Amino acid sequence: MAVYPWVYRNLIRHTDPEAAHRLAVAAISVAGRVATARGLLRATVGHLPAPHSGDVGRRSPHIGTRVLPGRLGLGAGMDKDATAVLGMSALGFAFVEVGTVTPRPQPGNEAPRMWRLIEDEGLRNRMGFNNQGVEAMVEHLRDLRSTRPGRGVVVGANIGKNKTTPEEDAAEDYRVCARALVPWVDFIVVNVSSPNTPGLRDLQSVDHLRPILEAARRGCEEGTVRRMPLFVKIAPDLGDAEILAIVELTRELGLEGVVATNTTIDHDLGAGGVSGAPLRDRALEVVSLVARHLGEDQTLIGTGGVADCQDARRMLEAGADLVEAFTAFVLEGPTWPGRMNRELAADTSR
Ligand SMILES: Cc1cc2nc3c(=O)[nH]c(=O)nc-3n(C[C@H](O)[C@H](O)[C@H](O)COP(=O)(O)O)c2cc1C
Repeated sequence: MAVYPWVYRNLIRHTDPEAAHRLAVAAISVAGRVATARGLLRATVGHLPAPHSGDVGRRSPHIGTRVLPGRLGLGAGMDKDATAVLGMSALGFAFVEVGTVTPRPQPGNEAPRMWRLIEDEGLRNRMGFNNQGVEAMVEHLRDLRSTRPGRGVVVGANIGKNKTTPEEDAAEDYRVCARALVPWVDFIVVNVSSPNTPGLRDLQSVDHLRPILEAARRGCEEGTVRRMPLFVKIAPDLGDAEILAIVELTRELGLEGVVATNTTIDHDLGAGGVSGAPLRDRALEVVSLVARHLGEDQTLIGTGGVADCQDARRMLEAGADLVEAFTAFVLEGPTWPGRMNRELAADTSR
């Protein structure tokens, strides 16, 4: 029997979820900063096959021009302030999405705001974008990129708006974040799909979304001369017609692609969004729908309830190019990302 899942179900479940989460991220952050610990993790649990450098063909996983050492990355929300990127990479994630970050620091919603759904193999959260703000994230990323191993990790930043920013000024929040972050990251994800910032998901309607994506693109162009891959992350609770309208908009505006999906509010457990196994079927449906309408040269990142290789394969077969996970990492523990990426790589090399 695997040790960590037993420890999670019998011991960790009795601890405060957010405190356990903070401790885990802090421990991963420290392990990532200490070269010997990082090397040990990378050589054991996080060992990944070397990517074929220079090969950005359809078969090798990539984001923009960066080739990835695997198809599974860490979803947004775990490393909110980009303090644990090296540790996450050493554990075997092929790329790391940090954030959601907002222009100004904010505390998020009052606790309790994270719950374990032990029997359902999920989590429920209403964190509300607690983060140290974009300037702190830039500092952390600047430190990361000042080292050789830090430059080697493929990192994306998930950006949002502050809770106190009125809807009519939302686009400016996205521009500010994009502009500050683009020198330090490999891709940007515009998050308009978190259920925990009042009114945020209304920004998914094309009328609202267009100026936001245009502002984010402008921020990217102001911050770098490189072409920055820009994604939009969508909710699983949208209707099919709304999803198709967003996909059409990403094509029209030349976005890199779509991240599908965020947590779902389709439950009766109380406030917040549910992730993990209860989200799996709907996330897969959305991925499949998006994949059928996205452009050939666009990229689809599937996320929601990916807990083993079969789930990941289903996402990939449905048309995702890459997958991300959050909840299964919490449930399955530190050996999980490397194991997943090695198994998935073995699939494609056959
Ligand atoms: C505690 C928690 C916090 C999250 N925070 C964010 C966030 O800040 N921004 C975001 O785009 N998604 C956030 N998510 C959503 C995840 O990135 C992911 O889209 C979702 O959980 C589905 O994947 P999973 O089933 O593998 O967890 C969060 C999820 C959880 C469980």
